[in-house]
Amino acid sequence: MTPLPLYSRITGTGSYLPPRRLSNADMVDLLAKRGLETSDEWIVERTGIRARHFVDDGVNASDLAVQAARSALTAAGRQAAEIDLIIVATSTPDMVFPSTAAILQHKLGVAGCAAFDLQAVCSGFVYALTVADAMIRAGTATKALVVGAEVFSRILDFDDRTTCVLFGDGAGAVVLEASDTPGILATELHADGSHVGILCVPGTVAGGQVLGDPLLKMDGQAVFKLAVGVLESVARSVLAKAGRTAADVDWLIPHQANIRIMQSTARKLKLDPARLVVTVDQHGNTSAASVPLALDHAVRAGQVRTGDTVMLEGVGGGFTWGAVLLDF
Ligand code: UT7
Repeated sequence: MTPLPLYSRITGTGSYLPPRRLSNADMVDLLAKRGLETSDEWIVERTGIRARHFVDDGVNASDLAVQAARSALTAAGRQAAEIDLIIVATSTPDMVFPSTAAILQHKLGVAGCAAFDLQAVCSGFVYALTVADAMIRAGTATKALVVGAEVFSRILDFDDRTTCVLFGDGAGAVVLEASDTPGILATELHADGSHVGILCVPGTVAGGQVLGDPLLKMDGQAVFKLAVGVLESVARSVLAKAGRTAADVDWLIPHQANIRIMQSTARKLKLDPARLVVTVDQHGNTSAASVPLALDHAVRAGQVRTGDTVMLEGVGGGFTWGAVLLDF
């Protein structure tokens, strides 16, 4: 019997942003047409966001996912046919069913391997990477494509200025392979369903109709307070599991929702602010896509290099949160 691999390792990253970029000034104009006021100053000061990308009509999560996936496959030097597991983290799937992962598999021109979606909202990618790592170490898969892909512009309420300026669309992907060397060092996932109502799209489909509100609702302050607490605790927890300390972390890549939350996490961990990967300024909050998008941008910018220790963190609706510590 072949021995089980000790580790899984990221061998390639990729990402994709739809070409339509909206600056904060564009959001000011868009909201003004609806009789609402916002400003570049407010958005930058409260969130750090300066721009986001939105898909055009007819473009779905799988269309973004396939571009990010192809780029990650190229970076890993792999063909789609070599992949034996596809997980897509998304809260904005192409259809109610089948999964966006199955649609992605077909768009990649392959068939046969396991493919499923994972729904943990903004923690989705960290959840998906944890599941792929466990499946690889259990011998269920050897080469996984793990994707976060979102079209949040489809579920934004453009009459609610407190939420519609915050989110964007995009996709990020990694190829994760069985390895004898690290790799993923430690993972940890959490959820607390008592907070379902603070960040949700409460609508559903029933009897041929949309029942309830199909647009995003968020109690920003409640999410903010929970996020700053759990991002510190889960980071400390994975460091302890891996026998490392915060001083070992070369790059912190938390969910890109709000620069104030991200900087507060870095401060609490006593990390040099220069070690924080920031893409929220240019991407907004892309939910499950935010962490792999930020990772790929950091890799391509020459920040994250082979051998660096990287902390990925997710937090969001559910309430869910988690972290993955890895040697890149
Ligand atoms: O992806 C999952 C994770 N999500 C998050 O991490 C989001 C967490 N929450 C946040 O990032 C912040 O709470 C927000 C950015 C959403 C809001 O920032 P805040 O500092 O908590 O602002 P606030 O909700 O306390 O609102 C302050 C003021 C209010 O006016 P009054 O009541 O003080 O007069 C809002 O009406 O800002 C007003 N406001 C705006 N003004 C201009 C809210 N949205 C806007 C806007 N433009 N777009």
